[in-house]
Amino acid sequence: MPKSPVSTPHHRQPDRRAALAQYRSRANDYDRELALFEPLRREAIGHLNLSRGATVLDVGCGTGLSFALLDDAVGRKGRIVGIEQCPEMMDKARERVAAQGWRHVSLIQAPAETARLDALADAALFHFTHDVLRCPEAIANILRHLKPGARVVATGLQWAPLWAWPVNLFVLGAALYSVTTMDGLGQPWSGLADQLGAVDVDNSWMMGGIYMATGTWRGAE
Ligand SMILES: C[S@@+](CC[C@H](N)C(=O)[O-])C[C@H]1O[C@@H](n2cnc3c(N)ncnc32)[C@H](O)[C@@H]1O
Repeated sequence: MPKSPVSTPHHRQPDRRAALAQYRSRANDYDRELALFEPLRREAIGHLNLSRGATVLDVGCGTGLSFALLDDAVGRKGRIVGIEQCPEMMDKARERVAAQGWRHVSLIQAPAETARLDALADAALFHFTHDVLRCPEAIANILRHLKPGARVVATGLQWAPLWAWPVNLFVLGAALYSVTTMDGLGQPWSGLADQLGAVDVDNSWMMGGIYMATGTWRGAE
């Protein structure tokens, strides 16, 4: 993954300007770079337990690499809502939707923390969206748009155990290239767990260098 023309400054909190610059520079090559992670994407989407006709949010959808698998799960009577703040990544997502003639995919170009959605969804996917997960307002805004009982799945990079230090070299390189804060890389799902109440975390991917967190939104108290 690493080879960025942009060196990303690192912050204690996600930095929107830096993230926009990071993904502007990656938009053209993004799909090729992520091809290796297709099995992870497939498993993550499987954990959403989607049924035909369901509505699913793809948070930080990027170029729309998850849309085909989400479409397989929800069918044409379902709905996929992609939320993405980077115009260049969103342009790729739009091209994908147009090329496939997907009329059941809606795209919202906005930060996850302020995106306005016109529906309540059955599930939400956060696939490789560390910056979004470090922003409590973004998580809260997404959860506000879920039905009670909705499934939530998050995946991404995390620090592996110390003995797996070569994995951590990869995590460091990939993180420098794809997130704007290293904060929380020990437990990237912790903010989601705080708001959901609990998540199950599978650390078996890439010797612990990738997590898969799954949980259920019980509804606002
Ligand atoms: C590593 S990419 C993942 C894209 C996609 N989820 C995938 O699995 O291929 C992270 C994406 O999150 C987007 N992003 C980062 N912060 C965001 C925010 N606050 N709101 C919406 N999108 C955001 C980036 O622009 C980028 O497209």
